Amino acid sequence: MCGIVGYIGKNDTTKFLLDGLKELEYRGYDSAGIALLNCDKIDVFKAIGKLDNLKNKIDSAKLSPSYDIGIGHTRWATHGKPTELNAHPHLGEYSYVVHNGIIENYKELKDELIAKGHNFVSQTDTEVIVHLFESYNNEFENCEEAFKTTISRLEGAFSILLISKAAPEKIFFFKHGSPLIIAKGNEDGEVLFASSDAPLIGLANDVVYLEDGVGGIASSNEIVFLNDNYSWSTLPTSKQFAQKDGFRFFMEKEIYEQSDVVSDCMLGRLKDEEILFDEIDKSLIDGINEIKICACGTSYHAGLTSSYLFERLAKVKCNVEIASEFRYKEPLLTKDTLFIVISQSGETADTLEALKMAKNAGLKSLVICNVDNSSMTRTANNTILTRAGIEKGVASTKAFSTQTVVLWMLALYFAKAKNVISKEKLQSEIHALREVPKSLKVLDKVHEKARRLSKRYLHGHGFFFIGRDVFFPLALEGALKLKEISYLHAEGYPAGEMKHGPIALADPELFTIALMPENLLYDKIKSNVEELSARDSTICAISPLDFELADDFIKTCKTDHYMLEFFEMLVVLQLLSMEISIRLGNDVDMPRNLAKSVTVE
Ligand code: F6R
Repeated sequence: MCGIVGYIGKNDTTKFLLDGLKELEYRGYDSAGIALLNCDKIDVFKAIGKLDNLKNKIDSAKLSPSYDIGIGHTRWATHGKPTELNAHPHLGEYSYVVHNGIIENYKELKDELIAKGHNFVSQTDTEVIVHLFESYNNEFENCEEAFKTTISRLEGAFSILLISKAAPEKIFFFKHGSPLIIAKGNEDGEVLFASSDAPLIGLANDVVYLEDGVGGIASSNEIVFLNDNYSWSTLPTSKQFAQKDGFRFFMEKEIYEQSDVVSDCMLGRLKDEEILFDEIDKSLIDGINEIKICACGTSYHAGLTSSYLFERLAKVKCNVEIASEFRYKEPLLTKDTLFIVISQSGETADTLEALKMAKNAGLKSLVICNVDNSSMTRTANNTILTRAGIEKGVASTKAFSTQTVVLWMLALYFAKAKNVISKEKLQSEIHALREVPKSLKVLDKVHEKARRLSKRYLHGHGFFFIGRDVFFPLALEGALKLKEISYLHAEGYPAGEMKHGPIALADPELFTIALMPENLLYDKIKSNVEELSARDSTICAISPLDFELADDFIKTCKTDHYMLEFFEMLVVLQLLSMEISIRLGNDVDMPRNLAKSVTVE
């Protein structure tokens, strides 16, 4: 959610900022902007929409001076519409700031500053930061004191980079709640900043992943931290740079990658008769009688899927909550509960906060995450990485499949440790796990079918995705994929629940996407779909078994395990939503109003 970058050094400042913002653009693309400082001259460029708009503006300005300092921002709007005035960097009289997060007390600060004569031009919460800084700097005539006092007045989540003509060789930085990294660049005197490590890889070795409450002042000569709570570490060298590799969209590439990344995810973790997670404490499940899972969005759907597996295979009570609901319900947490959070980014504010609450309550915790060194992996006692590689498409695909595989393996790990699974059953589950990469392979004929069917499903008054058991969370995921990239209304529903209300909507303009696995409750779901068909709903069935009442049919392969059917159907749902979105002319990778990593609550 928003991306920020900063640069001090003698290389091409503008290039670093634009390249860095390109890496971060998926975090928000309502607008982008940079501020460049050269002694007492500040040049600022802002543009609404995608980064290319900003780049075109800068290109046509034909900049000649060299700039030793710059900050940049790509925005996902929280306060104020996505206009140029609301785009970062925000200006006071002589300073600029970029910010990721939300200043919760901005209204009272703004009133206070207006009373002192400050003029505001934007509707954002961010603008108060720069005015507050200048107000204290005018009073103290000391930038460092002004910055520290400014920070002490802010409430909420904020990663900040601030530059000022009053200290033209410095960048002031602070991290609280939202991610921020500072790096010593490869060139002498270079200091780089970014809100994730992707823009830094290849350009720096030594980095500090800043902890909450840590900030400082950087210049080409030195980096001064405001407190001692930091340590230098080494930046990974491989960028795993996500290129589209001939695919039309990152989402498409990531759907096709699932088969491979799931193999990576299982590497070294599957033995013939056991599951290995060397990275977690051996005593993690000792004394555990219950599992609580917290997550958001697609990660929540992976969690919900696993609750069926934990109870069915490991005979352990498992409940799953949406992190933003969990936070404020005054949850009852007992020490015999293992607290699991699931997150692709490791930065989702609500999930991170839920994790902190569980840790403070003394619970054992485990993070299932795709991004090492993220806020969550640094907070949890135990981490299992999903190894999906960088996921660039805003609509999550391979993160979900790897999360689900990790959770399935974890359920079996539990089952074995608790001695509640027979040797034969464990072997057959492990055998099925080994088949997952095959189930996730995209078959040409399935992709072609999804492409052809997408023509039909562009109108109508809504979609119901229905399924039972683990196919219910899969239905939720199918509906989420469709609505987020096609902007069509879709709901996921437990198939057996349709007759308790939603069936009233049934008519030919209601599209039902029915998940009909052969190996789990086939007859039950069949009856539910027949009820909808009898009321004229248009039915698209996904099943390995022919179903004569379907208006459209996508045939999946025959397998002997419902989870393999699950993964095959997942691919079908992802392809269908992508093809519908393409046909509607939408930007599949950067759907409107969304951002990849939601670091505000
Ligand atoms: C949907 C999607 C979101 C994320 C959610 C949680 O395609 O990507 O619903 O799943 O924002 O994000 P993470 O997993 O990063 O915590």
